[in-house]
Amino acid sequence: MTEDITFPENFLWGAATASYQIEGAWNEDGKGESIWDRFSHTPGKIKNGDNGDVACDHYHRWGEDIGLMQGIGLQAYRFSIAWPRILPAGRGKINQAGLDFYSRLVDGLLAAGITPFVTLYHWDLPQALQDEGGWAARSTAQAFIEYVDVVTRRLGDRVKHWITHNEPSVVAIVGNLFGEQAPGFKDPATTLVVSHHLLLSHGWAVPVIRQNSPGAQVGLSLNVNWTTPASPSPADYNAFRQNSGMWVRWYFDPLYGRGYPSDMVADAITHGYLPKDGLTFVKGMDLEAISAPTDFLGINYYTRFLARSQDIPEEQNMPATVFQAPRNDSDWFDMGWEVYPEGLFRILTWLYCDYQPAKIYITENGCSYSDGPDIDGRVHDRRRTRYLASHFEAARRAIQAGVPLAGYFVWSFLDNFEWGLGFSQRFGLVWVDYKTQKRVIKDSARWYKQIIAKNGLVPTDL
Ligand code: FCB
Repeated sequence: MTEDITFPENFLWGAATASYQIEGAWNEDGKGESIWDRFSHTPGKIKNGDNGDVACDHYHRWGEDIGLMQGIGLQAYRFSIAWPRILPAGRGKINQAGLDFYSRLVDGLLAAGITPFVTLYHWDLPQALQDEGGWAARSTAQAFIEYVDVVTRRLGDRVKHWITHNEPSVVAIVGNLFGEQAPGFKDPATTLVVSHHLLLSHGWAVPVIRQNSPGAQVGLSLNVNWTTPASPSPADYNAFRQNSGMWVRWYFDPLYGRGYPSDMVADAITHGYLPKDGLTFVKGMDLEAISAPTDFLGINYYTRFLARSQDIPEEQNMPATVFQAPRNDSDWFDMGWEVYPEGLFRILTWLYCDYQPAKIYITENGCSYSDGPDIDGRVHDRRRTRYLASHFEAARRAIQAGVPLAGYFVWSFLDNFEWGLGFSQRFGLVWVDYKTQKRVIKDSARWYKQIIAKNGLVPTDL
């Protein structure tokens, strides 16, 4: 590991979480039900029957958690706001207790010298809105603006970094096509409408945030893993085209002013996912709204995939899945994902060249390993340290290649509820005993502390 490599001045080092994954207190202080409460309370949906009712109990332990963040030396913390804590029915009546909770959290972070990055939507839609059609209904995008207005009026004086949405492609595809996440549908047509309303609500939110939070930086977080065709064959190239079209271009193209990719629209019409006249749900000024200029792009990166034509399930005319690249010498983490740091360098340089975002933050990067406390009470998670070290190095190379990377958020601050996989995946810098809520700072976090202090790479000793 190179010793004397430093990052640009003011580079921000942080960690990230999301409300449903850590807060617990699912029905306290006036909070409404979310689609994740409903989904996780439905038998058979979550591994081991887990749910986020208590999770890391962060709702009650946020003060202790800020202390741990200080212990690691975090400069920034990305967290999300639970919409049903603020507007229990999705719109209308405001729950002051919910706003007060986040206001105290923000004050606590600022007092600790930690910059808050707030995600407005990390998947916990109020169930009341789902009952009216959820993101498939245009009215949900309108309700989102009402919610964003309420939150940014209250916190906009102190929070200056806003992320409208987290991974809209996952919401649309995993929640509405694979049915593996809330709301759990398997419907290609719904998937496309949902994606549009998510993007539209982002575009509509940008000016509202700017108005209520003067001087704020606004962006959104998109998940991009490095994907390539498995071979030079035309069939594999086509699988790659469809795959990148569905997961990446369908979001980036309209956000950066290019509209929806025409090859994907044509495919969707061919397969009957769109009517013959195409994108009927796109109205008047929608595409202009979606492409509202942003201040930064958030990238969530974890692994890489290969696109292989033979892996596309027959019944699924449009490839809805991505494929891992088995290599004997490669390392894997518990999610079954490959450790592939080179992919981070590649997506950063490629996205910067192709879409020219003003600034990029890595808003998520990390890995799950089950290491727990040893006989000495410490968590020796060497594999996480190695994973992070190799990805930090890749990020540094991307900066050297000209990418305006401004900060890095490790996923995650705490071990937490990993959606459909429940508590089976531990992504945290801090280990959590879910029975006692005891927290243990892992070795990787101690090492990360040195990185932050130096603003540069330090040896891993591994
Ligand atoms: C991302 C999510 C995040 C977490 C990681 C592992 O897709 O944004 O909440 O679950 O994956």
